[in-house]
Order: sequence, then C-alpha cells, then structure tokens
Amino acid sequence: MSKNKNNGSRFLPKSKGIDTATVYAPEECALKVKRIVLQPDNRQMIEEFVTILGMKDRFAEHDVPVPNKIVMFGPPGTGKTLTAFYMAQRLELPLIIVRLDAVINSFLGETASNVRKLFDYAKASPCVLFLDEFDAIARTRENNDEVKEMSRVVNTLLQCLDEFEGGSVLMAATNLEDQLDHAVWRRFDTRMTYRMPGEAEIMAYIRLMLDGFEHDAGIAGRAAELLRGVSFADMEQIFLKAKRKAIIGSAPLTYRTLEDAYREYQPRKQAAALDEKVLAGT
Ligand SMILES: Nc1ncnc2c1ncn2[C@@H]1O[C@H](COP(=O)(O)OP(=O)(O)O)[C@@H](O)[C@H]1O
Ligand SMILES: [Mg+2]
Repeated sequence: MSKNKNNGSRFLPKSKGIDTATVYAPEECALKVKRIVLQPDNRQMIEEFVTILGMKDRFAEHDVPVPNKIVMFGPPGTGKTLTAFYMAQRLELPLIIVRLDAVINSFLGETASNVRKLFDYAKASPCVLFLDEFDAIARTRENNDEVKEMSRVVNTLLQCLDEFEGGSVLMAATNLEDQLDHAVWRRFDTRMTYRMPGEAEIMAYIRLMLDGFEHDAGIAGRAAELLRGVSFADMEQIFLKAKRKAIIGSAPLTYRTLEDAYREYQPRKQAAALDEKVLAGT
C-alpha cells in the first residue's frame, strides 16, 4: 500500500494543524452552486436544516438539540460534494473539504490524531466540514497492525462525532452506503440519499445549462431524451463540450452539436431514477 507523504500545496498550513484539507470561502461556494438541481426531498431537508440553524435560540429554549451532522449516500456525480458547497453558501460559512481516504492513506499512524485535529479546528472556527470518501473508514485492512490502527481511528471518529458541537456543520459523503459501520452512521442526525437524475431533474438541469446561452428552439426536449441515464456530472461535461463547439463555430447551440459532444464524451449510461410522480402513481 502506498503511503504518499507528498501532500502538495492544496492543504491548509501546518500551523492550523490540518494537512489534508482544501478551504473555500462562502463566495467561492456561491459560484460553484449556480446550477444545482436538488431532488425535492433533499432540497426540503436542506431548507429545514438551514431554518433550524437560524432559530438556535428557540431550540435551546425548548431543550431540543439542533442537528449538525449530515451523511450523504449515492452514486458518483449526483451532487453530494455540490451539496456541501451549497450548504456552506446558505450558511455563509467557509467550506473545508477533506478526503478521508487521503487522511488515512497518508500517515496511517497519525490518522487518529489528524482526525482529531480536524474536529478541533471545526470546533474553534465555524465552518462546514465535509468529509468525502467517508467509507474509507470502513475499508478492511489485511495487515494486522493496520487493523488495530483502523479500529483506533474509528473509535476516535465516533468520539469526535459524539462531541461535535458549536457553530460548525459536519457533512460526510459516500458512494457505498452498505460499507458504513452502523455505529458510525447512526451518529448522523440527517441522512440524505442521492440518485441518478430522473426525467424532471434532467429537464431542470438542461434548462439551467441553456439559460443565457443562445440555442435552437426545441433542443431541450430532445436533449432530455438523449441524456436519460446520464449523471449530472456527465451531463455537465457534455454541455460544456457542446458549448465550446458552439462558441468556436460562432453558432447557437444545436441538438446536432449536443449529440456530437455526447458521442465524443461517451458517458456511461445507467438506469435513470424514476420520477417522484411516477413513483407516487404506482
Ligand atoms: N445535482 C446536481 N446539480 C447540478 N450539478 C451537479 C449535480 N450533481 C453533480 N453535478 C455536477 O457534477 C460534478 C460532480 O458533482 P459532485 O457534487 O462532485 O458529485 P458527487 O460528489 O455526488 O460525486 C460537479 O461539477 C457538479 O457541478
Ligand atoms: Mg463528491
């Protein structure tokens, strides 16, 4: 197993005690989320979360703790990381992104203390602390010493989750729901599931991508058919490719261009999600 010690420049200064994190100011987060499409259920959860954090005093009066730990499950490219940006923007807090697999692989022997440093930092300075690749905590190790070390890391993490308080919000994301230890995931007060975009979400995203860009009439409907089963992340790449072609050709965006971009990009098709209303009707 590689123990990469070259962690590069994207990390916080050592003086902050964190060496595997990227920080974004709230204004940077706002730029990233200009074209976000949230599933209705997830949007509602986030709205409620933000509302509650704006009413902390009322909750204290009633002795009801406010939620501060969200875990997100779902396939790649469906908006988990983007939601962390969105949350930071809504709460006007800086976002700290940490890949848990990087924390673990860099210095296995120091992982527990690095995890603690991260949480200490979040305790001292209000932020959205986003732990990506959260399932890395659950991956089994073959080597016995590593098994011991990992169980120390898990214990530290559980303790940090239990003690997490103050003005920060913790978010964690994983593609592998079933990999997470029950003891870990039950510590989260809010769980959000992400799925591949359904018809309505594909259309909403297409409209956002077309907005403000000169395009042929009637492109949206055909694009929606073309992009069925494609993740948001792939749709984004296809649209960007198509827009580049349109700009080079000094032409409006046409369905033909989009189709060319699609063919060049070769997205991986997956089963598209059923729409809410379809689900409700069954
Ligand atoms: N729900 C969404 N709405 C708009 N854009 C999205 C959405 N999900 C993903 N994207 C775009 O796809 C790319 C990858 O998204 P990301 O949030 O990193 O996915 P995940 O964390 O679920 O793998 C980003 O550039 C993002 O802008
Ligand atoms: Mg992500």
